[in-house]
Amino acid sequence: MCENSEIRKLFPAIAENNGIIYFDNAASTQKPEIVLQKVAEYNRSGHANIHRGAYHWSVEATATYEMTRRKTAEFINAESPEQIVFTRGTTESINLIASSYGRSQIKEGDRIVVSLLEHHSNFVPWQQLALEKKAYLDFLNIDPAGNLIESEWDRVITPGVKLVAITMMSNVLGITTPIDKIIEKAHAVGAVVVVDAAQAIQHQKIDVRALDADFLAFSAHKCFGLTGTGVLYGKKELLESMPPYQFGGDMIEYVTKEKTTFAPLPEKFEAGTANIDGVIALSAAIDFIEEIGWGKIREIEQDLTGYAIQKMKMTDHVIIYGNPASMYEKGPVISFNIEGVHPHDVSSILDNVGIAVRSGHHCAQPLMKELAIQSAVRASFSIYNTKAEIDYFAEKLKEVRRWLGYGS
Ligand SMILES: Cc1ncc(COP(=O)(O)O)c(C=O)c1O
Repeated sequence: MCENSEIRKLFPAIAENNGIIYFDNAASTQKPEIVLQKVAEYNRSGHANIHRGAYHWSVEATATYEMTRRKTAEFINAESPEQIVFTRGTTESINLIASSYGRSQIKEGDRIVVSLLEHHSNFVPWQQLALEKKAYLDFLNIDPAGNLIESEWDRVITPGVKLVAITMMSNVLGITTPIDKIIEKAHAVGAVVVVDAAQAIQHQKIDVRALDADFLAFSAHKCFGLTGTGVLYGKKELLESMPPYQFGGDMIEYVTKEKTTFAPLPEKFEAGTANIDGVIALSAAIDFIEEIGWGKIREIEQDLTGYAIQKMKMTDHVIIYGNPASMYEKGPVISFNIEGVHPHDVSSILDNVGIAVRSGHHCAQPLMKELAIQSAVRASFSIYNTKAEIDYFAEKLKEVRRWLGYGS
């Protein structure tokens, strides 16, 4: 569609804040004008609650909400819109699976497998479920470069494993996982696979049917939408077999003093007033991504990532974590430390010169342990970032130690 400088103009927060370099895109992306406009238009022209009103505004809002469900299904190539449940985010989607599917299906002595790359959102729910059910939690290990150790899979993914929870892309190392192979292995032993696509969703086309994913979760705010909106995809027979996650309005069919019957999919899992604004924004975000095109997104991001790594490698005292087998297996996420400097100091110093990066354990403490560090700095890029920004960042990285009184 357009070149990177043109793309910048589509994001007010980027276009109108010259001088701020936003490198925290793995945490949340900025929103394009078209997304902001769609939400404002909807509220200005008459907001109403969905599903319950017979009057015009409510009917319109319901139609837009349900159209977004169809669009989201097409976006990830789900068979039908009923397989798309709107949630508050990836975290809620995964908790829904753990609470509903997990609690009803996992039994004492069963085995659950997670990788050591996981964000706490795809780790703690399974750990807690295993503790509650007296099930075992096993791990897919990583090598020192951060890649999953494939040779161990035959030892870990064996009969008795009922569920494998795995990310498509590490939020710390940017490394993508061989998700299709893991799903194949898991299915061969009868396990279902929960795919955390929170990081992958803004970088690559996801096809749930080609992957044969059982469940897949992502958040809208990481792909140019609003916070508080997420998606849970599930295979129809699995979602149908699962008990509701929350009770209340909108998810019922009929209520008497004695008992309640529940609405069919997907309403069964959408109790209470939905995040209508967030879903409308997701619709615009999907249109936006499709207009830019995956090819262009990948090209810009790979170019920026390769360039940044090259620049950072040339900077003394910078330690970069994770080393994927090839650049094609890395998203635009780079975690690093500067020798002798606490990551929080690095990010505060960079903030003083207008660069926003994140520091901390990135909600991945088991991974931090594997990397033998407490925390790291993370720079993550999106389609509106530029090589000039990376040049400035690399220059400022060189100065961090000097600001703290080191000779070099
Ligand atoms: C890989 C991964 N999984 C899950 C999450 C949780 O997403 P959310 O906070 O939007 O629920 C994140 C957020 O950073 C993530 O990077």
